[in-house]
Amino acid sequence: MVLEVVGSDEGTVLRLLRVASSVLARAGIEQPRFEAEILLRNAMRLPDRALLYLEPQRKPSRAARRRFFDFVSRRAAGEPLAYIIGEKEFFSLPFYVTKDVLIPRPVTEHLVEACLRWLRRQEKRRLLVLDIGTGSGNIAVSLAVNNPYVRVVATDISHAALVVAKRNARRHRVATRIRFVCCDLVASINPEIRFDLVVSNPPYVTAAEFNAVPKEVRREPMLAVFAGDDGLLFYRRILKEASPLLSSDGLLALELNPNTVSAVKELVSQAGFSYLMCLPDLYGQKRVLLAHR
Ligand SMILES: C[S@@+](CC[C@H](N)C(=O)[O-])C[C@H]1O[C@@H](n2cnc3c(N)ncnc32)[C@H](O)[C@@H]1O
Repeated sequence: MVLEVVGSDEGTVLRLLRVASSVLARAGIEQPRFEAEILLRNAMRLPDRALLYLEPQRKPSRAARRRFFDFVSRRAAGEPLAYIIGEKEFFSLPFYVTKDVLIPRPVTEHLVEACLRWLRRQEKRRLLVLDIGTGSGNIAVSLAVNNPYVRVVATDISHAALVVAKRNARRHRVATRIRFVCCDLVASINPEIRFDLVVSNPPYVTAAEFNAVPKEVRREPMLAVFAGDDGLLFYRRILKEASPLLSSDGLLALELNPNTVSAVKELVSQAGFSYLMCLPDLYGQKRVLLAHR
């Protein structure tokens, strides 16, 4: 049905956008015109969305139209935009994404920002960072791109996610400064190594929250999202298994689930961290925890 409506051979850029916007609007997509433009730009393989409007009466090739029809029907069926176009911007950098990785979220930029601020204040010229559950590599790559003294060890239990993360490290020319390790949290990390910074955006969705997550989030790897009944499984494990790898003056930086902040703070204090600070996101919700011993 969708393909029939959009699939006119007569389609100019403007007409394709108009019809696709109405299909996406009917499917409940919040910014239908914007997303239609992104999909058409990708289907036509244009370097910039604005180029669509240079020649609005242009008729895209048959192959481009076919790609566009496919994209629009997948989006209308609830597939996340980032998976369809294979890319998501994070910390002003484009990241490859596939269905094997969590789509990087703007809120995680606060975590990266806080880490970079702390790293900038260090006097050492060799800063060793451990990123646990690296996914697309968005945190590891952003830290390495923005601080030339940073070396990262980035772990993930998903081999498929690490394939994506390595591509992103190569794309942003920091592959020689990031070592990717496929393991359960830090199981394969040499216990003698001490890191200046241990950072993680761990899975943190509780069982109750998981039942209510939007259908788009259900398309993301469950491995990246679900964290046991109380959502604290990975915080507990990171504190037990990874905090011994932190140097005595090092920083632990964790993304927070706003609904479990007090419980996580309690766990972090119990693990022997005396200095704790929680930073809010743009909506005032506590989303980043920083801790020192
Ligand atoms: C919430 S996602 C974060 C991904 C990415 N760092 C980000 O900020 O978008 C959590 C990541 O942890 C990984 N993960 C889940 N269980 C793990 C485990 N036991 N050991 C290592 N990584 C794990 C998942 O595969 C996923 O990539």
